[in-house]
Amino acid sequence: MKCEKLELELTRTQAAFVSAEADEVLFGGAAGGGKSYGQLADALLYALKYPKSRQLMLRKTYPELEHSLILTSLEFYPRSVCRYTSSDKKWRFLNGSVIEFGFCAAKTDVIRYQGAEYDVVRFDELTHFTEDQYTYLISRVRGVNPYPKMVKSSTNPGGVGHAWVKRRFIDGFEPGKIHVDAETGAKRLFIPSYVTDNVFLMQADGNYVNRLRQLPEKERRALLEGEWDIYDGQVFAEWRNSTVGRRTRRWTHVIEPFDIPKEWRRYRAFDFGYAKPFAVSWYAVDNDGRAYNYRELYGCTGEPDVGVRWTAQRIAEKIREIEDGEEAGLHITGIADPAIWNSTGTAEGSIAEMMERCGVYFEKGKHDRLAGKMQVHYRLAFDDEGLPMIYFFEGCKNMIRTLPQLMYDPTRPEDVDTTGEDHLYDELKYFLMSNPIATRVCETPPPAEYSPLDSDRINIYPRFVV
Ligand SMILES: Nc1ncnc2c1ncn2[C@@H]1O[C@H](COP(=O)(O)OP(=O)(O)O)[C@@H](O)[C@H]1O
Ligand SMILES: [Mg+2]
Repeated sequence: MKCEKLELELTRTQAAFVSAEADEVLFGGAAGGGKSYGQLADALLYALKYPKSRQLMLRKTYPELEHSLILTSLEFYPRSVCRYTSSDKKWRFLNGSVIEFGFCAAKTDVIRYQGAEYDVVRFDELTHFTEDQYTYLISRVRGVNPYPKMVKSSTNPGGVGHAWVKRRFIDGFEPGKIHVDAETGAKRLFIPSYVTDNVFLMQADGNYVNRLRQLPEKERRALLEGEWDIYDGQVFAEWRNSTVGRRTRRWTHVIEPFDIPKEWRRYRAFDFGYAKPFAVSWYAVDNDGRAYNYRELYGCTGEPDVGVRWTAQRIAEKIREIEDGEEAGLHITGIADPAIWNSTGTAEGSIAEMMERCGVYFEKGKHDRLAGKMQVHYRLAFDDEGLPMIYFFEGCKNMIRTLPQLMYDPTRPEDVDTTGEDHLYDELKYFLMSNPIATRVCETPPPAEYSPLDSDRINIYPRFVV
């Protein structure tokens, strides 16, 4: 589609977004597909076509709004027909139309728009909003003029609103086809966006797609391929437990044990649990910074996720017993969940203090869930030789069982579902956050052939057909 006067060129899917005739439209999928630009171009065309029209364009926070939508609009909105005032964040057109930018950081920020009326309300990164915010704000779409009243949104998969957006626009509906909501009669349409549609980006930054390819599998599939179903599943989809690799140490995370050189640094990471399992893992770090989980002590009854109900003293005594035998004379740095320093409300003090009295010492681990999760991804990633930055000795059976089982949280889809058996994962994060590494670049995809005994890497996700 070409608009001669404006010299505005649109991609195929942007043109579909502009000409969509539904009440609620979602332009969703891959990052870099041109969704935000599509919103701005569509708003501009609408403003010019319908004099005195009013549109609201929203992003979750003000800094995001300023750095993306406002900045891009300043780059291409033609000053011959409109002018921007930053004090009220509005583009005013010669024909009387207005495009207003807004944000909705707190839950109650919607109140700002109470009493306002718009012909079109637009959400960029819709999954950053809650469904309540969305339904409240779309109630502002009204007016007596004959112009089409619409809600137009754009988004990548993921974010707090992932589940409701998917339910409202995607699950069970054919992409590119309008469906009518039985309850409200609203016509809804989902237009998938693909990064390869965006010829402008491909020309300007040929390496963009390559950079997306370096992301961990989930993020890659969401951001590069715009897939929505990935967040329904396994978090560490890159996990590999290859029987062949156990000896070669290539393309596997699980290896046969070996004698750890005495000079390697050693760590012990701890997550306390009583009714739920407690978790202790020991790690060694070689001279290249590669980590080895060589032992675990998991307080589980044998029934998954049920704790053995040991006291802090008993756990500490067991740790002492193990370390006095096998690591006598070696220094081990302890790292634990910072919550064990909280008061227990008894004269015995915190769990950390109780364990200190038994001669088991810890430093406070960093409790940053998402940064910790990324560290696990960075460590699990293979380099071109097929070597990861962390290995698990095959005796660490519970870590090997629970880490690949972790699922994404249905309400916060970029984070791990904490109702899963995540105790060993938690202490793994504390350990890794004390030794953070940067992401590594790998050009080589993992080999396509796997041992038939490898059963834990099968992930088949449905794809959209357009
Ligand atoms: N029709 C277009 N003409 C020129 N540049 C475009 C066009 N569509 C997208 N772009 C550019 O491509 C890049 C990615 O587009 P963007 O809208 O930010 O993608 P998304 O919101 O899907 O992640 C941006 O730099 C944007 O300015
Ligand atoms: Mg965008």
